[in-house]
Amino acid sequence: MPCFSNIRHEIAGVPILDLAHEFGTPTFVYDTGTIVQRIEDLRAFDHIRYAQKACSNLAVLDLMRQHGVLVDTVSAGEIRRALVAGYAPTGSPPPIVYTADIFDRESLNLVVEQNIHVNCGSPDMLDQYGSLAPGREVTLRINPGFGHGHSRKTNTGGDQSKHGIWYDQLHDCLVNADNYGLSVTGLHMHIGSGTDLEHLSQVCAAMEKAALELGRNLKSISAGGGLPIPYQEDQQRLDLGAYFAVWNATRQRLQDHFGHAISLEIEPGRYLVAESGYLIAEIRAIKRQADNVFYLVDAGFNNLARPILYGAHHPMAIVPADGETRRPEVDVIVGGPLCESGDIFTQEEGGFVITRCLPTAAVGDLLVIECAGAYGFVMGSNYNSKPLAAEVLIADGRPHLIRRRQTFEDLIAGEMIPQQP
Ligand code: LLP
Repeated sequence: MPCFSNIRHEIAGVPILDLAHEFGTPTFVYDTGTIVQRIEDLRAFDHIRYAQKACSNLAVLDLMRQHGVLVDTVSAGEIRRALVAGYAPTGSPPPIVYTADIFDRESLNLVVEQNIHVNCGSPDMLDQYGSLAPGREVTLRINPGFGHGHSRKTNTGGDQSKHGIWYDQLHDCLVNADNYGLSVTGLHMHIGSGTDLEHLSQVCAAMEKAALELGRNLKSISAGGGLPIPYQEDQQRLDLGAYFAVWNATRQRLQDHFGHAISLEIEPGRYLVAESGYLIAEIRAIKRQADNVFYLVDAGFNNLARPILYGAHHPMAIVPADGETRRPEVDVIVGGPLCESGDIFTQEEGGFVITRCLPTAAVGDLLVIECAGAYGFVMGSNYNSKPLAAEVLIADGRPHLIRRRQTFEDLIAGEMIPQQP
């Protein structure tokens, strides 16, 4: 595995110094080979649906589509991306699904107009959709009453979560769907990012119960996303075989009960793209504050917000500008350029700054933040008027620019100074 090495020279065979030279920094680089491998890991499921919120660049969506991966969307913008990347609006199974807890007016109009499959996460969505598009098929996202996540902010089940239809409202929703002639053909549960096998049996039991209540119209069940990846060296990879087996047994029991085929879908974001992605930054200052040494780089939480939001740990490596392969190590704090104290990549949840053991470095060396393909670029911002980073995809051993860096003109496009009368 490429992660966890502290000195790194290349990504998928391409020298990182060349990437920085050609595309500048900060730049996200994704390795096609890793994404394809992760897709293959999940082939046991009938359908793999990519939660594009993790990384929605058109080139990544195109890659998914070419490998037979369906797509999940949460906004009109994500639906439009899927369409531009070549996904058909309709089909069986639906190539594009809209899973959300609300329709804003734009997304409601778009799903009605394009006949995009809707996975409703709130009872109100049934009324809004049913009154405009009676007779269509829908699926329901159920909140089973409990959840699980790598942080409180990524737990999407239980009574503190806004997500999904509360399990005891399923009956009312089915009656309401009938009123509009909507046919409920599938159920979906996504209880959070970072699910584990312990919680899985609970989720599957809740799914089975809801499925029996829904009855024989049931055609599909979705396990949602949430598959973890090892961000730290000591973290084990999820046993996918065991994960599939529990879901498959649930599906099997439902098939036996209803006497017809039921498809089993999985909907990961992180699992498919996290490990493929690297954020390349340049070290622009090294300073000592009392006993602490800071490496300050030209990427900040405007590029990768996971550390400041969740205290997330990402592996890091140094790319020596002179090509050296060995350097002594030192405990450092890694921070970015933003005018905000929280702009630190080495922090724990709650904002506690910690140190990381990294090779000694000099200004001009590069720093690579690894496992940054999921919820990296997509959660970027223009804070401090920083342009969004460039994105590069390595395919067939060659780097391809898949998003140019924003320019200053992009930044101010759309802004207006009111004219004085
Ligand atoms: N399906 C639904 C309905 C979701 O809400 C999500 C994630 C996924 C699938 C994909 O979850 P994944 O397989 O990527 O864990 N920004 C956070 C993660 C937020 C996830 C939101 N929903 C992070 O950086 O960890």
